[in-house]
Amino acid sequence: MNILDSKETRWWKLPRGGDERSLRSSEEIRKAAEFLRNGGLVAFPTETVYGLGADATCDEAVSGIFAAKGRPSDNPLIIHLGDASGLADWVEEITPAARKLAEAFWPGPLTLVLPHRGNLSPRVTAGLPTVAVRVPSHPVARALILEAGIPVAAPSANRSGRPSPTEARHVFEDLRGRIDVLLDGGPCGVGVESSVVDVTGPVPVLLRPGGISAEEIRRTVGSLEVDGGGISASRAPKSPGMKYRHYAPRGELWLVAGSPEEARKRINRMLEEARRQGKRTGVLTTEESEDHYRADVVVSCGRRSDPSSVARALYASLRRFDEEDVDLILAETFPEEGLFHSVMNRLRKAAEGKTFIPDDE
Ligand code: TXA
Ligand code: MG
Repeated sequence: MNILDSKETRWWKLPRGGDERSLRSSEEIRKAAEFLRNGGLVAFPTETVYGLGADATCDEAVSGIFAAKGRPSDNPLIIHLGDASGLADWVEEITPAARKLAEAFWPGPLTLVLPHRGNLSPRVTAGLPTVAVRVPSHPVARALILEAGIPVAAPSANRSGRPSPTEARHVFEDLRGRIDVLLDGGPCGVGVESSVVDVTGPVPVLLRPGGISAEEIRRTVGSLEVDGGGISASRAPKSPGMKYRHYAPRGELWLVAGSPEEARKRINRMLEEARRQGKRTGVLTTEESEDHYRADVVVSCGRRSDPSSVARALYASLRRFDEEDVDLILAETFPEEGLFHSVMNRLRKAAEGKTFIPDDE
């Protein structure tokens, strides 16, 4: 057995619908907070995805996160605060854009990048002069962080490269034996990670699209630059995490562009070919089109008419293809607006850019 897989992982279910106050006095939260204060690793639900938490001021605890996930150490972590009033303890300056965005969207699925004060573990920031901070809205996350009384560094609680976990069992699959506690608060509501915005300069820059749409952010701060995402080799990525392969199921994933009707025709043709080659096939679609495909596994990821339902179901849908041992997955695409922009960002990374454009035929 790998030395990493030898921890006892406690899986604690919390009552659904509990508020932060009653949760804070629960046995589970008090014990989990104690694990955090003592340098342990605790996975917990947030409104976006499950996080893998450790004390952000303790080098050893933070190193544990990187080891458990198999995460490259040059990819910095987000610190989670129980409430916005603690922000000034960790950042050097709260810029006007930071203030506006925090007021509009905290607690919630938004992360702000600001210059730090040098009092966090340098492993959290991977040696950068800035730190990414967010205040999650999930009552379990807030109760845990407030009870622990420390900033909690937390990436998504998956093995590096895999789809992020939106249910406790996803965390267990990936990190069993590698973490001390898994707090089970049920499925996450948003389903994609927080939007990461660099607010250090005069014009805020969207580094990672997420749970708050670019349109909503722009309405709040007036102007917003959108970072290409570190794919270009000519310059260092602003958000280091964006350069790695991510969110990927084990099977080969192709995105199929075009309207739902065009994609449907093309996908069915590609399925025939794949079947002839003896491949086990899968299609990622939505409720509107699920009856139109002849694949071994058809996964319906929410409703196209409701982008938030697609975001919520996305990662569990990608994991389904692994559970079903699919070799080739063909996915419909979505228009690049609102939450669909975040969904497409994850899908493109999961497919490593492999997109089939029907016009190319
Ligand atoms: O919703 C979320 O944000 C989830 C939950 C658990 O809060 N967390 C999450 O963390 O997605 P992670 O580690 O998977 O993603 C953090 C992202 C990465 O793209 C990383 O490169 C970027 O934030 N990041 C962290 N610190 C940064 C910094 N100082 N400057 C620029 N980007 C930073
Ligand atoms: Mg992640």
